[in-house]
Amino acid sequence: MKPIIIINFKTYKESISENAVSLAKAAEEVAGKTGVPVSVAVQAADIFRVRSAVNIDVFAQHIDPAGFGAFTGAVLPEAAQSAGAIGSLINHSEKRIEHEVIGKTVGRMKSLGMKSIVCSKDATESEELARFKPDFIAYEPPELIGGDISVSSAAPEVIEETVRRVKAVSPSTEVLAGAGVKTKEDIDVAMRLGAVGVLLASGVTKAENPKEAILGLIE
Ligand code: G3P
Repeated sequence: MKPIIIINFKTYKESISENAVSLAKAAEEVAGKTGVPVSVAVQAADIFRVRSAVNIDVFAQHIDPAGFGAFTGAVLPEAAQSAGAIGSLINHSEKRIEHEVIGKTVGRMKSLGMKSIVCSKDATESEELARFKPDFIAYEPPELIGGDISVSSAAPEVIEETVRRVKAVSPSTEVLAGAGVKTKEDIDVAMRLGAVGVLLASGVTKAENPKEAILGLIE
C-alpha cells in the first residue's frame, strides 16, 4: 500500500504565500512522478492561491465550527471548502481545541463532505477522539514535533497502540503518525505498525532542497 504523505506548511516563511505555491508544486511533481499521494496543509489565506496552482489535495490547517453570520475571524468550513480545501486538520498540537468543539467540527466536515484529520497527543486521546469517527486521527507526540527524533523511532509502540485503540472504537478511521518524520524508514515503520501514512512539516519546509526531501521520503 502506498503511504499517504501530508505536508503541514504551518507558518514557516519558506511555506507561506508564493513560497507555499513553489513548495506545493514540488510536492505535485513528486506525487506525479512516484504515484504516491502527497497532500499539503496550508494557511487559510493560502488555500485558494495554492489550489489554483496545483492539482493535489489541499487541506486547511484549522477550521472553526462557525456558521454563516456574525463570526468575525472564524475560519468558516464552507469558505475553506470553496477556496479549494478538501478537508482540514484540527486540534493540532499548536492549535488545540476542546473535545466538544472537535466533535462539532468533525460533524460539520462530514455534512460538507470534507475530510477530517484530528490530531492527538497520545493513544488515550486518540481513543477518546475516535468516538467522533473522523476520517483520520494523526498521532503526534508534542515533545517530538520540530525535532530530529521521529515518532517512529521514539514511540513505535504508541503508534501501534493508537491504531489498535482507534480501530476498536471506529474501524473506518485511519491513523497517521507525525513528529520528527524525515526519512522513508520513518514512514515504513509507521506503516508496518498500522498507520496509513504520515503528517510532517520541518523535514520538508526547512530542507535545503524541499523537492529532494519529499522524493527522499518515497524513493
Ligand atoms: O503537523 C506536522 C507536525 O506537527 C510535525 O512537525 O516538523 O516534526 O515534522 P515536524
